[in-house]
Amino acid sequence: MPNNAFGDFQTPPELVKLVLDRLNAIHSLGWARILEPTCGVGNFIRGLTQSPIIIDGCEIQGIELQPEHLALATEGMNAIPLTTVKLRLANLFDINLHTDLTWESTGRLLVIGNPPWVTSSGLGILDSDNHPKRWNIKGFSGMDALTGASNFDLAEFIWIKLLYELKDQQPTIALLCKTTVAYNVLKFAAKKNLPLKTAGVWKIDSKKWFDAAVDACLLVIEVGTRWDISQIPIYNDLTSDSPVSMMGFEDGNFVVDVEGYRTVVEFEGVFPYEWRQGVKHDAASVVELTHDTQGNLLNKNGEIVRVEADYVYPLLKGSDLHKYPVKAFSKAVIVTNKYIGDDTRHIEQLAPHLWRYLCQHSDAFDRRKSSIYVGKSPFSMFGIGHYSFAPYKVAISGLHKSPRFIALGLQAGRPVMFDDTCYFTPLQSAYEAALMAALLNTPNAKKFLEMISFAGAKRPFSKKVLQRLNFQALFIACDKNQLLVDAKMHYRQISNESTDIIGNWHDEIDKLFVSALEQKRLFD
Ligand SMILES: C[S@@+](CC[C@H](N)C(=O)[O-])C[C@H]1O[C@@H](n2cnc3c(N)ncnc32)[C@H](O)[C@@H]1O
Repeated sequence: MPNNAFGDFQTPPELVKLVLDRLNAIHSLGWARILEPTCGVGNFIRGLTQSPIIIDGCEIQGIELQPEHLALATEGMNAIPLTTVKLRLANLFDINLHTDLTWESTGRLLVIGNPPWVTSSGLGILDSDNHPKRWNIKGFSGMDALTGASNFDLAEFIWIKLLYELKDQQPTIALLCKTTVAYNVLKFAAKKNLPLKTAGVWKIDSKKWFDAAVDACLLVIEVGTRWDISQIPIYNDLTSDSPVSMMGFEDGNFVVDVEGYRTVVEFEGVFPYEWRQGVKHDAASVVELTHDTQGNLLNKNGEIVRVEADYVYPLLKGSDLHKYPVKAFSKAVIVTNKYIGDDTRHIEQLAPHLWRYLCQHSDAFDRRKSSIYVGKSPFSMFGIGHYSFAPYKVAISGLHKSPRFIALGLQAGRPVMFDDTCYFTPLQSAYEAALMAALLNTPNAKKFLEMISFAGAKRPFSKKVLQRLNFQALFIACDKNQLLVDAKMHYRQISNESTDIIGNWHDEIDKLFVSALEQKRLFD
């Protein structure tokens, strides 16, 4: 039975064979020592014993946390001629791989396997103990050092542990992992100047092999004596010898496709407006509402919610933005504060119905796990500021694979809110919003964003990515006539005024340009 807390996807023997054949193609001289750090039921170890990549006298060691798995892995293992196989029941994070593993020889070392596919938030939900609590590496300050992200993959930790603890033995490390894990590891290794000699990424069909809807690959790293990588080939599958693209580092930025990036590098810059994230409340069951056909607002439990309208705003979530205008504005959200840190207790006097409703559902707020809510006013929210109440906005879903910007105006006189999977830039006029959306949807902007983001990431279009758009360069390069056609289309969606009586659109373009430059000065 797969066990989620252990990220348990045993690798099918056919896939093991493809991985081993690939390694044989990379290094036909084979390896004298092989480590499988999370060996599971032993599919890699069994595959290894039939593969030409092991040389006579090869020592194989495997580590596994779950006794039932190890029992299956151990079956029949002693009968392999000219090979020593040592399997141990242990938590990888309790072992120092440099000092605690004993080997008979000092021959070439290969680390191979498929570490757990589980994220820290997944572990949190499962309340698992399976994380590196006792593991500490000098100069490595926990998860922030990895990606800067609060949600990290256990496999990233395993990669970094292997690189740090085994680097003096200059191993080849070949692990199946999510492609985001592979990229994060490579970024981290480059940032920390770890001694990587070569690296290559072979994509795998994770739907076919693991029934998992996530991009995955075999990442193979050869450790040497210093960082020696300028480009990293990406291959379409394990049998392929010709890369489809080359990853690399351009001006300090990690780029998934160096050639492609160079065609759009002129659009690299600093976006003049600040991208804002939508409202964060972690209480969707209470504050996110839908309209029924009778004009009532319902919460997720189907209860009719009658609260003061002043605190209720139209809501678009990431999927609403992506398929806009289909089913747009069928949702609403209660917003309890006007800025972060605002004292929400005034609601009791000003909006007694809302206060009663919130108090009746306070358990949903009490269950919020994030530390950001600790010590804050009751029912308080984040991702809220003056910008949330701007009349016009251009917004994008951060989660979808291709970028799509939508211009939005007031909806029934109310500013539109977004959930925290969306990003938006607040604007003051319908012209600005229409032109901005048209500009950000130009082919150049789209291509640039696709080049600097990673479609397999959970959130390809983050604030960091969006902030790199060069407004000025996009503007100069775009087809102005097409820009006007597109801007008018956006304008018609957010304003009742005819596009023909708006005056001179060319003046509006100039104004937007000047305003963007002013914004840039403010923002800088
Ligand atoms: C994705 S499965 C892969 C198993 C095997 N490597 C394979 O490819 O068939 C991950 C394995 O890691 C094991 N595991 C998870 N956390 C571990 C830990 N902290 N120490 C050792 N093994 C662990 C799980 O029990 C599971 O068998």
